[in-house]
Amino acid sequence: MDIKEAIKERHSVRQYKDIPIGEDERKKLASLIEQCNAESGLSIQLVCDDTQCFDTFLAHYGKFSNAKNYIAMVGKKSLADLDERCGYFGQRLVLEAQMMGLNSCWVAGTYSKGKCKANIASDERIVCVIAIGYGENNGSEHRSKAVEKLCDIAEADMPDWFKTGVEAAMMAPTALNQQKFTITLDGDKALITAKAGPMTKIDLGIVKYNFEAASGHKC
Ligand SMILES: Cc1cc2nc3c(=O)[nH]c(=O)nc-3n(C[C@H](O)[C@H](O)[C@H](O)COP(=O)(O)O)c2cc1C
Repeated sequence: MDIKEAIKERHSVRQYKDIPIGEDERKKLASLIEQCNAESGLSIQLVCDDTQCFDTFLAHYGKFSNAKNYIAMVGKKSLADLDERCGYFGQRLVLEAQMMGLNSCWVAGTYSKGKCKANIASDERIVCVIAIGYGENNGSEHRSKAVEKLCDIAEADMPDWFKTGVEAAMMAPTALNQQKFTITLDGDKALITAKAGPMTKIDLGIVKYNFEAASGHKC
């Protein structure tokens, strides 16, 4: 599976098989997280075999089952773009995990911050977690807003790379599937901006990563 296939195949999965993540996959994830932390300055952490974090009323209400592994997205409170940075590097990990046969779900609300096992220093904040594991299912495609609602460039006028990027952006997960972003062309560069709202900055990082990974063009 290549990255474009991973973008297409990834859907939120909330029910997992009750089996631990394999040793090889854990090692690979740990090493990818190390790389992301070195590049981003974040303090992303992998927590495995924790039955507590998703053992909340909200998680059950959200229909999570056997969610026992997660990637905690943690970073310095002083980073002005902390949310966006977590979105960007988290989505890189989500897509790598998908290519390794692991399903996932971004979770900012339906988990317990208090029970989360990640180490969070006093100058840090946990932005959200990403549940990860072998899905009972592969999830399903989300309903997307029409392309005209997300992008002001007519399809006929889109360069191929830009069209590929927009399609990947439309497949990106966003909190509550809100898709509160807009994409335009600024000269020969894509410009993606977030509208106001809760979690839209995390979404922005996720959307930018999908766009860049599929189109090969930096935003
Ligand atoms: C930043 C962020 C936070 C999210 N928080 C939650 C959450 O707390 N609980 C939940 O069940 N899903 C959560 N989701 C998953 C979204 O509901 C899901 O990504 C969206 O409906 C699109 O569906 P898809 O991921 O299958 O494409 C979150 C997604 C993002 C990007």
